[in-house]
Amino acid sequence: MNLRMSVVPLFLMAASCVPKPERNYAPEQVSEIASVQEVMRLLAERADPLFGLREQTNFTQEEFARMAQAAEIIVAAGAHLETFVGQGTFDEGFGTHSKELGQQGGAMLEATESNNPKGAGEALSAVKNTCKDCHSAYR
Ligand code: HEC
Repeated sequence: MNLRMSVVPLFLMAASCVPKPERNYAPEQVSEIASVQEVMRLLAERADPLFGLREQTNFTQEEFARMAQAAEIIVAAGAHLETFVGQGTFDEGFGTHSKELGQQGGAMLEATESNNPKGAGEALSAVKNTCKDCHSAYR
């Protein structure tokens, strides 16, 4: 195999570690998702690109709009994840992390709707910490 053929596919793989969700879910469709893994792929698709903004002290209207859209998905995902409690190793603690995720998504939505950059940045950080905390315990 020549060098060009072997380097290009590796580069493409690195750019997309997490598979995309199967569909372009609207918030009201999140409750139909059958697996935690698919909920996670959706969360990664919508939330990961925003985490880099969390230290900003101000946001453009476009950034607020993207955060609001992601926040609606996060709220729906938090509520839906709670319904997996009791399956396998997902105990009450999993439910607590799920509830927190939903509340933080709610705070993010509220902050974006009231043009509150500080609140929105704090909510993004809180969401990121909850992703991490739940992964340490349940992933
Ligand atoms: C309530 C617990 C919980 C929260 C909160 C949580 N996760 Fe997860 N996450 C999991 C578990 C459990 C898995 C393993 C799922 C599996 O493979 O079946 C996982 C797996 C993942 C994966 C791997 C998906 C794949 O393709 O295998 C990604 C990416 C991910 N989470 C992103 C996120 C992001 C981003 C957030 C926050 C916005 C988040 N998660 C919040 C529990 C959680």
